[in-house]
Amino acid sequence: MYIQDEKVVILENGPTGNYFKLIFECHGALTRALPGQFINIRISGEREAFPLLRRPFSIARMLSSTNKKSKRIEVLYSVLQIGTKLLSLKRKGDFLYVLGPLGHSFPLPEKNEETIIVSGGIGIAPLIFLFESLDPQIKLSIFLGAKTKREIVHRDVFKRKNLNLQIATEDGTLGTKGYVTAILSRYLEAHRTTRSILYACGPRAMLKALDGICDQWGLRGYFSWEEKMACGIGICLTCACPVKTANEGTNMVRCCTEGPIFETSKIDWDYFV
Ligand SMILES: Cc1cc2nc3c(=O)[nH]c(=O)nc-3n(C[C@H](O)[C@H](O)[C@H](O)COP(=O)(O)OP(=O)(O)OC[C@H]3O[C@@H](n4cnc5c(N)ncnc54)[C@H](O)[C@@H]3O)c2cc1C
Ligand code: FES
Repeated sequence: MYIQDEKVVILENGPTGNYFKLIFECHGALTRALPGQFINIRISGEREAFPLLRRPFSIARMLSSTNKKSKRIEVLYSVLQIGTKLLSLKRKGDFLYVLGPLGHSFPLPEKNEETIIVSGGIGIAPLIFLFESLDPQIKLSIFLGAKTKREIVHRDVFKRKNLNLQIATEDGTLGTKGYVTAILSRYLEAHRTTRSILYACGPRAMLKALDGICDQWGLRGYFSWEEKMACGIGICLTCACPVKTANEGTNMVRCCTEGPIFETSKIDWDYFV
């Protein structure tokens, strides 16, 4: 699949809960992005060099456009430091340069495989695109976790027949009080499944806990992994991520090109201890 640096026009950029929602129209390679792939956004203006580095973001939704050849991409983001602060100041009609689609996509579930989606905070972003791409007939459970109610966004999107949607917030303002991993564990204890695939994105501590759950219940787990990134295209080696080798060693691979989707059993979790 080829990538492109496309000049796109912003259609919407504003707050949603504790996050920001950005929507822009695209026409080229970005229209063929798959769930789990990401984009690298240049935040600086056309005649500016600051901030020098682009910022990586997941594609949260791929929406249709009034023009049949175009698509609308939605990005959900947390406003943190200078890059995301400047991005949040962009207005409708402003331009952005967006490089993508980058990295690998999520593998899709096999036939008759129960599907489980688990998000933590802004980790919901790539999982919305995944949810909207799944066959509506499959058996699906979604567990959304966050610190507080205002971090559970787009609940309205997760609608379909026979969907098991459960929410946990750490402060108890929505759903069950506590961690999302606790409600998932309770579900697995009550509905033990033999063939399941689990997709997740969120804080590293949550992913680590999910790795243990996948191990315990024999689930195939695929995580959208975040490392600090600069180029996003495999050149700078900023985004090294440890994976296990066949002879029990560790290999550092580039999260931007070999990831950002990794099978949890391949990640060398001991590296982070
Ligand atoms: C594949 C991928 C997908 C992502 N998707 C989303 C998303 O959908 N929504 C969202 O809110 N955030 C997402 N992030 C994290 C997002 O890129 C950072 O929050 C953002 O770059 C922070 O920029 P800043 O200028 O505010 O922070 P700063 O800390 O000032 O950024 C400084 C530098 O560090 C890099 N950086 C900082 N934090 C991260 C991080 N967590 N991951 C990668 N690089 C980082 C920036 O690219 C920049 O080069 C994603 C990261 C990756 C790797
Ligand atoms: S961000 Fe440059 S190699 Fe991955």
